[in-house]
Amino acid sequence: MGRWLAWLGSMFAALLLPAAATAQDAPLLPHPILSGADMRDSLDLSGPWTWSVDPYRDGLGGFHGEPAGEGHRRWDERDPEEVARQNPFALFEYDMRRSPTVTLPSSWIAHDPAMRYYDKLVWYQRAFTVQRRPGGRAFLRFGAVDYVAYVYLNGRFVGRHEGGSTPFAFEVTDVLRDGENRITVGADAERSAQTVPPTVTDWETYGGITRAVLLIQTPRTYVDDAWLRLTRDGRIAATLRLDGPEAAGRPVRVEIPALRLTMTGITGADGSWTATIPAPRGLRRWSPESPTLYEVRFVAGEDALPDRVGLRTIEVRGEDIILNGRSIFLRGICLHEEELGTNPSRIITPANARALLSEARDELHANFVRLAHYPHSEVMTRMADELGLLVWSEIPVYWRVDFARPETLVLARRMLAENIARDRNRASIILWSVGNETPQGEARLAFLRALVRDVRALDDSRLVTAALLARREGNVQTIDDPLAADLDVMAVNTYNGWYGGDRLADVPTIAWRSDRHKPLIFSEFGAEALAGFHDPSASPRKFSEEYQAEFYRATLAMADRIPFLRGTAPWILKDFRSPRRQNPLFQQGWNRKGLIDETGRRKLAFSVLADYYRRRAAAAQGGSAR
Ligand code: GCU
Repeated sequence: MGRWLAWLGSMFAALLLPAAATAQDAPLLPHPILSGADMRDSLDLSGPWTWSVDPYRDGLGGFHGEPAGEGHRRWDERDPEEVARQNPFALFEYDMRRSPTVTLPSSWIAHDPAMRYYDKLVWYQRAFTVQRRPGGRAFLRFGAVDYVAYVYLNGRFVGRHEGGSTPFAFEVTDVLRDGENRITVGADAERSAQTVPPTVTDWETYGGITRAVLLIQTPRTYVDDAWLRLTRDGRIAATLRLDGPEAAGRPVRVEIPALRLTMTGITGADGSWTATIPAPRGLRRWSPESPTLYEVRFVAGEDALPDRVGLRTIEVRGEDIILNGRSIFLRGICLHEEELGTNPSRIITPANARALLSEARDELHANFVRLAHYPHSEVMTRMADELGLLVWSEIPVYWRVDFARPETLVLARRMLAENIARDRNRASIILWSVGNETPQGEARLAFLRALVRDVRALDDSRLVTAALLARREGNVQTIDDPLAADLDVMAVNTYNGWYGGDRLADVPTIAWRSDRHKPLIFSEFGAEALAGFHDPSASPRKFSEEYQAEFYRATLAMADRIPFLRGTAPWILKDFRSPRRQNPLFQQGWNRKGLIDETGRRKLAFSVLADYYRRRAAAAQGGSAR
């Protein structure tokens, strides 16, 4: 009887979901947002933290389901040794003060070889000293913790966050002390069929505290959300939202000194304000050729939030992608969030970001990067702003997400809003993607359409896309995914000649069809090669550099025959860790589709793509969009 009821309930939920999704409420913006947090004065808590593994999660609860016992509460601010010296009967089976020390941010993969495939719970702790801002407010802001974070300050629980690649913050005004404080964070990397992404991915998800932890102090009323952009009709638009007791009816202003421009206004009853003005004639639009960033200040009372913002427009006209009024071709490459080196642990410093993006821009002649398959560090998107690379940004709605589960939709919607709220001042970002290779079905369509609606509501200045699955019949690939109707730009990952039975010689003859009359991007294509493995024969074998180079020549020849193709983002710049790739001769736990290996060693295919993009860049300068 129970199973039957459960089935009935799931059917009912699936029937409801489309209705629930269509009647969806406003986007799930986080609170607080702390827009531009990385630009605020803050105490950066990067550096030495102690760490302690907790694979059975004793720190979260006892083995009979009761609250965590005294001997396991990692966040307890008492000193176990101090207590034990006073009370010989005390029993602690942890001691965060005397556990080993590591440097954060970093995935725990770098802490110890035994942690290579660990995906449960790890506790981290450090002390810090601070002087509180009189009458102000205090927040702990995390760049990202993979996958769930449990945060405690001075022995008090301050919040839980799910999602391994987006920022979050908890207010700690009433918990922070003058002098010494002690922060404890539980990072739990375990995923399931209900998480985003689910358990099965083709990348190492890098458990741990992988981005900066900041203690931010603000005035009682501060600028929580600030967004500046150029509208498609050539006006500068500004939106501010204040948080605090004096948020309503508050004078605000936006200053752009280099343009001698100040926008002023008064917030409404909800603490927000938005306005537009004609763009001044002296405005230099942001573009890959001229990535102009303006120093901006968003001011409300004693709070002045600085940022560096580029202004440009992006739109679609028919089958063209239009940047600042000109049709462009996206000369792209995909990246995972993984630094160069033989033992990466997801440490994206400005230098690491610059090394990766400069290889794409200066050596591959790229003007576009797909930051796959999750929101990358803000260090990366700010570097793309600075170097002049257009960006595809996405959340990890990847492969078999539980589309029929309402809670999973809420999780994805919140992740999307966290990503957009963090980065909608980044001129480099032109595309928000809502999914990657998700199998078609009614629940999946409703799920992704709900995400598209959120993007439209959160950001009308950018384009929406998703990596779709195409249908193959004979020598024709057809893009007829119903989701294409909701997208501005269609995208497809194509592996003809790597997966499946196509011979490379036949790949250039494969035709692509769509009746949508929209731009198409090849959001992935690639073949694996172990750097240094060569097969000079007339028919080189897979995993050789020669095979990978021939795969690129064949796929680019196929691409050149698609009249509505407006971009390519081959998979992938650099070999990356993937637990699914275990061929002991060629992979050793790495996906080898990189054009460079983990040390930066270039493979033969690198120059095939670089030559192709150099020709395309020259043609674009000559005025032809293609
Ligand atoms: C898929 C997927 C990637 C994966 C790639 C591959 O298209 O989107 O995440 O790594 O194929 O098979 O290498």
